[in-house]
Amino acid sequence: MLKVINVVGARPNFMKIAPLMEQMKKHSQITPLLLHTGQHYDDMMSDVFFEELRIPKPDLYLGVGSASHAEQTAKIMMEFERVVHKERPNLVVVVGDVNSTMACSLVAVKLLIPVAHVEAGLRSFDRTMPEEINRLVTDSLSDYLFTTCEEANENLRREGIPEEKIFFVGNVMIDTLMKNIDRIKSRGALEKLGLEAQGFALLTLHRPSNVDVKETLQGILEALAELQTKIKIVFPIHPRTTKQLKKFKLWEMAEGMKNLILIDPLGYLDCLALASQSRFVMTDSGGLQEETTVLGVPCLTLRENTERPVTVREGTNVVVGMDKERIIQEGGKILTSGGKRGQRPKLWDGKAAARIVDILTSRNYSGV
Ligand code: UD1
Repeated sequence: MLKVINVVGARPNFMKIAPLMEQMKKHSQITPLLLHTGQHYDDMMSDVFFEELRIPKPDLYLGVGSASHAEQTAKIMMEFERVVHKERPNLVVVVGDVNSTMACSLVAVKLLIPVAHVEAGLRSFDRTMPEEINRLVTDSLSDYLFTTCEEANENLRREGIPEEKIFFVGNVMIDTLMKNIDRIKSRGALEKLGLEAQGFALLTLHRPSNVDVKETLQGILEALAELQTKIKIVFPIHPRTTKQLKKFKLWEMAEGMKNLILIDPLGYLDCLALASQSRFVMTDSGGLQEETTVLGVPCLTLRENTERPVTVREGTNVVVGMDKERIIQEGGKILTSGGKRGQRPKLWDGKAAARIVDILTSRNYSGV
């Protein structure tokens, strides 16, 4: 029997773990446990994803909550170490690049438990991003590195990761998108907001580099002020962004724009329903860059770089940075010309989780 602890912590982890749990449950030789660190805890940042994606209730919950990076990482490590001693898994699976991903990998390897990292090898080459540090640490510690694209394989090889640890399997986030596409389409999310298909743009914003510096956030708002004279913009606001807008006294500016529609964070199905029927998406999220590529919706990434270059090379993504004039210009271009077209990257076919579980079940694991 193979006892696996699958780790989730924050919003972008949930849609990645859903297909892995589903595949693991099909294998009689696997006992999958789901552990939630509690890094995200609000209903709309966590619970709604479990309900909508039918993810089983976590077997283990650490309840760490929000704190500084060091404090949050340390709390996860202390709690997770206790769990690993008690449960004695044969394998720990982590996904993505959040603090929970790195913290649990570090604990597992020190207790000599093999680690599998799903979505390995992505690099923005920007070490001011907390996620980049989490990716570098997690990949250097992992035994199985499951990648989504050729660039990720190259990054890992360049860092000296042996070839036999690297497995190009595709994208589990797209497994979830494909599985739920019919539910997404029949959602009625637009009607609730009085929107028409193609009659609006969707915006999400939460990266510290965009929302923790007043001048940057203000510049983005000024670009939005201009764009919303041409098209409605729907803005589901992450709790970090709400906090920062209020702190910088920019909330009134945002509220004052007639065609900027401020709403609470959305669940998975509504978010994808809006993304799929929007004229274009503006975002600093990693996941939406990939999802818009598969949906064929133009995406403007409001960052200076991306760890997902395949979405630019093959997909609908354009990295525009945070410069006000550039955002206005690129948004305007989409409105006049329709925006970038692309194709679906290799192996983003809805079967990534099945490939991962096949690989994991074909290995021998020593007892702990
Ligand atoms: C985290 C991830 C980021 C991911 C993002 C998705 C790290 C380093 N960052 O960033 O990679 O893209 O999640 O959302 O792991 N808060 C709430 N309720 C919640 C969670 C957070 O109100 O359920 C507020 C708290 O004020 C908290 C702040 O949001 O301090 C930031 O939360 P945190 O988990 O530290 O980072 P995120 O910005 O969400």
